[in-house]
Amino acid sequence: MISIETLKNRRNKLAQLINIPAILWSGKAPSRNFRANNYPFRASSHFLYFAGLTLENAAIYLEKGKLTLFMDNPSPDSTLWSGKMRTREGIAEEIGANDAYPMEALKSKIKGVATIAVQDRFTYQQQCQILNRSLPSIQELIDIDLELVKAIVTLRSTHDQAALKEIKKAIEVSVNAHKIGIKSTQKYSTEAEVRGAMEGYIMSQNMTCAYNSIVTINGEVLHNQTYNNSLNSGDLLLADVGAETDLGWASDITRTWPVSGHFSRSQRDIYDIVLASHDACIEAIKPGIEYREIHLLAAKIIAEGLVDLGILKGDAETLVEKDAHALFFPHGVGHLLGLDVHDMEDLGDLAGYEAGRKRSKRFGLGYLRLDRPLKAGMIVTIEPGFYQVPAILNNPNFQKKYHQDIDWDTLKQFSDVKGIRIEDDILVTQKGAEILTAKLPTQASEIENLCQA
Ligand code: GLY
Ligand code: MN
Repeated sequence: MISIETLKNRRNKLAQLINIPAILWSGKAPSRNFRANNYPFRASSHFLYFAGLTLENAAIYLEKGKLTLFMDNPSPDSTLWSGKMRTREGIAEEIGANDAYPMEALKSKIKGVATIAVQDRFTYQQQCQILNRSLPSIQELIDIDLELVKAIVTLRSTHDQAALKEIKKAIEVSVNAHKIGIKSTQKYSTEAEVRGAMEGYIMSQNMTCAYNSIVTINGEVLHNQTYNNSLNSGDLLLADVGAETDLGWASDITRTWPVSGHFSRSQRDIYDIVLASHDACIEAIKPGIEYREIHLLAAKIIAEGLVDLGILKGDAETLVEKDAHALFFPHGVGHLLGLDVHDMEDLGDLAGYEAGRKRSKRFGLGYLRLDRPLKAGMIVTIEPGFYQVPAILNNPNFQKKYHQDIDWDTLKQFSDVKGIRIEDDILVTQKGAEILTAKLPTQASEIENLCQA
């Protein structure tokens, strides 16, 4: 439970930033196939930030630091299917609400009120209906909604102690899940079994996954969500798996390990380049530094390493300027982490990008999710990688543009490296950075030891 004091503090801080009232809806679980069979419910993160509790079909009205809860009490019938449920009055007390009313009463509070559209269609329609206006896309927000969004971005970009405690809880479980995955791979024969072991542990801790797990021997498929493959000696297994606490706070970790327990020479060479990039980025993190600089540093170290191996040709900085690194490292070096794994990405780039900045059209920068100077209290991921993506490497336009920069014969010697990513969660501190995920090793030799443990 987030304390009432923390929740009130967040509400007061919002009131210091804007003097318009806001309504935030929690949302509703969508049906899978019929009304009583739903997908698991996950409350909207903006709602969770101020209400602190996962409540379905609820809304909060925030004004001048005060919170009014709107939700219906459970119907008498619902006890049969759902057991005894908490009442509106009980919940109001738990979250330090100033008032509590049935949902129907929300209609009287809509004058000049700002909001943020939720993701589920049912609640989104309810929002438009109750407010009696449309809720346009994030690029076309009306003034008051934009003001609310900007204030919430300011608040949620850095974390208070309660948020940090939750994120640390999620991280501890994720670290253990990864250790279980790495240690148990040799007794399993499929990706699905390793995924099951990792997610099973997360569930056993009464947590859920913060996003769909990636557990794959095809690490070059960046968001691979199939688990059909058998594991063979010689494969690398990439697992991007993160737990979420019952209050909705996320973690996000990736490790890549050899199915056999031993990296081949070529796998180890590339692994060490990705790790050097990862370590240098973390070392460089401090308040004030531009996250874009961290991304470009990751790119430079990967380019340098690939030049040393003879895969890329030329000077690393020049290669990065022409985006040649992105042939093998096509995504951004990381993102904000908080209640959402890509925190506040429902707000488009309003959270990730400093005001006035836009996504670059450059191949090597276009997927950068965060382009702001870092501040103490932010949590970011650092997740450089190396991938051989057929859609990139076989693209005739890229082949033509970069034909002088790649040694294709040398690259063939690395055909057993499809995808490697190493990802940790980093708190920006007053002086530098704290690796919140430090209990999970990154060194190749430590990973091999864990494989054999
Ligand atoms: N964990 C998946 C991602 O960061 O995109
Ligand atoms: Mn990530």
